[in-house]
Parts: sequence; structure tokens; C-alpha cells
Amino acid sequence: MKSVLIVGGSNGIGKSLVKILLETTKVFSISRSSSGIEHPNFNEFACDVLTDELPSIDAIDALVYCPGSINLKPISRLSQQDFSNDFSINVLGAVTVIQKYLPVLKQSTAPAILMFSSVAVKMGMPFHASVAASKGAVDGLVKSLAAELAPLIRVNAIAPTLTNTNLASKLLRNDRLKEMSAERHPLKKYLQPEEVAQMAKFLISENASAMSGQIIEMDCGIVNLKV
Ligand SMILES: NC(=O)c1ccc[n+]([C@@H]2O[C@H](COP(=O)([O-])OP(=O)(O)OC[C@H]3O[C@@H](n4cnc5c(N)ncnc54)[C@H](OP(=O)(O)O)[C@@H]3O)[C@@H](O)[C@H]2O)c1
Repeated sequence: MKSVLIVGGSNGIGKSLVKILLETTKVFSISRSSSGIEHPNFNEFACDVLTDELPSIDAIDALVYCPGSINLKPISRLSQQDFSNDFSINVLGAVTVIQKYLPVLKQSTAPAILMFSSVAVKMGMPFHASVAASKGAVDGLVKSLAAELAPLIRVNAIAPTLTNTNLASKLLRNDRLKEMSAERHPLKKYLQPEEVAQMAKFLISENASAMSGQIIEMDCGIVNLKV
């Protein structure tokens, strides 16, 4: 049975991925709070990737790094600390985890790493300066590592648009905001975590063995379509 480590399996897209993988895969999760999921194939570690020592895991075929941020403010109100916090959780946390588990991943026959970017890198949106800068760095990290770790380890990212998780709960806090959010996307919808998790499942599987160094946009049309 394959083993997948999901950093951020307690909530959002990561939790959806845990649920999709559990029956066929040994799943490890690292997060600060518990997912509440109990299953013989599931092990979770209570751990803050920015401050705590990471647990040892013997075998990992795929590593998925989910932690991220949506810290939207005008540039006049974004502090250096805001930029630093966003960089820490989006980029440095991923680097820490990748460095820790790289030797274990290298023992797999077809290892994969998956990170999360955002549509805000390709499409300029007001108030996104800090998160867009950090997610732009994620894109650079993905491309660089994909080249460095080829041909053994594939490295990709998903760049989702607005997704219905706790992270985006302020932006989707009432029916009016939900309607407006769907309306501004050409496909008249925003994302549910389950559909992003299905893409994640594909990208870490051997069905995606031809894909590395890619930032897959799940944009409901907002970046790529003008209708
Ligand atoms: N939701 C959106 O609209 C959206 C849009 C574009 C991009 N994205 C990106 O997609 C990714 C997943 O988003 P999501 O909406 O699923 O996020 P989420 O609901 O906030 O889930 C993030 C997961 O990461 C864990 N986590 C956060 N900080 C951690 C830390 N310091 N140490 C360990 N675990 C930590 C959280 O668990 P604990 O809190 O229990 O630690 C949680 O399980 C993120 O990178 C996000 O930036 C999301």
C-alpha cells in the first residue's frame, strides 16, 4: 500500500484528500488540531510545522503541503510582519517539510510532491500583495525543485481560485457573498474542497507520471477566460 503524508489533513482541501485516499492508501497527517477522522490506515501527528520538531515516518510516496494564508489588506496596512508571516507559512514551512522528508521520499519508486499556489499569482487582485508574493515564491520553488529532483521526484502545485474552506470562510460568510463569488467567475461557481482534492489525488498518482514543474490552475475561468 502506498503512503502519503499530508501536511494540513485536519481541515479544508487536505482533509478532503485524506478522506478520498484512506481506503486505498496509508495516510499520515501533520497539523496543529485534529481532523476527528479515525481509520486503521490513518495516523495523525499534532505538530506546528513552523515551530515543532517533525515526526519520523519510515515510508512516504507522496508529500502534500496544504498550509497557506489569505491575508487581504491594502498595501498601506500590510506590515513587514504580514509579509514575513505569509512567507513563513506558504514557503518556509514547505521547505522545512521537504528537507525533512526528502531522504524518505527518495526511497520510493515514484515519489511526488504537491504544493498549493493561488490564482492571485497570475491575476492581479487588489489587497493580495502579501499572499500573491508568497504564492509566487511557491511557483518558483515548484519549478526549481521539479528540475533539481527530476527524474525521480515529480513536483507540482495546484493554483485554486476561491475554495469553500475555513480559510476562505470570511469571503463566503453569507449567501450574498457566495452568490457574488460564483457570479464573478466565468463558470459561475467557486470551488469545493472535494474537487481540488480530486486533482491533488491525480497529481500525486502515477497517472500523472508525465507531469512535473506544473502549476495547475483550477480557476473556474477567472484567470483564463474572458466571457
Ligand atoms: N481556500 C481558498 O480559497 C484558497 C484559494 C487559493 C489558494 N488556497 C491554498 O490552498 C491551500 C489549502 O487551503 P485550505 O483552504 O484547505 O486551507 P485550510 O482550510 O486553512 O487548511 C489548512 C490546513 O493546514 C494546516 N496548518 C495550517 N498551519 C499549520 C501549521 N503551522 N502547522 C501544521 N499545520 C498547519 C491546518 O490545520 P491546523 O489549523 O489544525 O494546524 C489545516 O489542516 C493553502 O495553501 C491555500 O493558501 C486556498
